[in-house]
Amino acid sequence: MTVRETIIETQNLTKYFGALAAVDDVSLKIEAGTLHAIIGPNGAGKTTFFNMLSGNLKPTSGKVFYKGMDLTGKPIHRMIHLGIGRSFQITNIFPNLTVHENIRLASQAMEDNNFHFLMDTAKMVRCEERTAEVIERVGLKSQSLLPARALSHGDQRKLELGMILAPDPEVLLLDEPTAGMATDQVPELITLIQEVQRSGTKTVVLVEHNMNVVMSVSDKITVMHQGKVLAEGTPAEIAANHEVQTAYLGGLYDLKV
Ligand SMILES: Nc1ncnc2c1ncn2[C@@H]1O[C@H](COP(=O)(O)OP(=O)(O)OP(=O)(O)O)[C@@H](O)[C@H]1O
Ligand SMILES: [Mg+2]
Repeated sequence: MTVRETIIETQNLTKYFGALAAVDDVSLKIEAGTLHAIIGPNGAGKTTFFNMLSGNLKPTSGKVFYKGMDLTGKPIHRMIHLGIGRSFQITNIFPNLTVHENIRLASQAMEDNNFHFLMDTAKMVRCEERTAEVIERVGLKSQSLLPARALSHGDQRKLELGMILAPDPEVLLLDEPTAGMATDQVPELITLIQEVQRSGTKTVVLVEHNMNVVMSVSDKITVMHQGKVLAEGTPAEIAANHEVQTAYLGGLYDLKV
C-alpha cells in the first residue's frame, strides 16, 4: 500500500456554540492527493468542522495542522495564501459581475497588492491567463461575459468551483458543491471535481449528502454524528459498518459498492 503524506491533521478539534458541542474532539488525518469525504446527518458538525479548517471559525479547543504547520485559528486570507481553498454550502458568487470578472477577482487573490489599481503588467498578464485557463477548465467559456446571475444554478456551482481553483490551491474544501443542483447536472460537476483532483494531484475534502456520489468518488470517508467521528474508512468499509448503518444510513441508501 502506498504511504501518503498527511496534508491536513486535526487534533482533538472542538467547537462549542453555547452548551452545544457542534464539533467534539475530532482528530483526523487527510492524506495528500486523496478525495476524502465527510458525511453525516444534518447538524452533525460537518460545516462547523470545515469552517475551522478554512479559518472561518476559531476552535474552542484543539488544533489544525497544514503540512505540519500549526494553523489553528489563523484567518482565512492566510489559509488561501498557503494553498487552502473552500466553497460554501450556499453559492458564493458576485451575481452582478460577469463569469470572467468573478474568476478574475479570485485569481487576483494570490497576487501581492491584489487590489491595487496599478498592478504591474506581468501580474496582470498572469492573472488574465489564469482566468482564461480556469474558465475553460470549468466549461464556462461560452458564458464568460454573462453576469453570474444569468447562469443556471448548476453553472453557478461550476463558476464557484472555478473561483476556488483560480488561486491554484493544493487543497479544496468543498461543502456540498452539488446542493440544489438538478439531479442530471450532478454527474458533470462531480466528474469535473474528480478531474481537477486527479490531474492536478490536489487534495479534495468533500461534504456531500448524495451517497451514490460519495461511495463512487471517495478514497476515504469520515462519518460524523453529533459532532464526533463515528467511523472512518474506505467506501466499502463504511458501507459494511453496522454502526454507520444504524446511526445514519438507516437503510436509506443502497450501499452496494
Ligand atoms: N453559528 C452557530 N451558532 C449556534 N449554533 C450553530 C452555529 N453553527 C452551527 N450551529 C449548530 O451546530 C450544529 C452543527 O451544525 P453544522 O452546520 O456544522 O452541521 P452540518 O453537519 O453541516 O449540517 P448540514 O448537513 O445540515 O449542513 C447544529 O446543531 C447547528 O445548529
Ligand atoms: Mg453543513
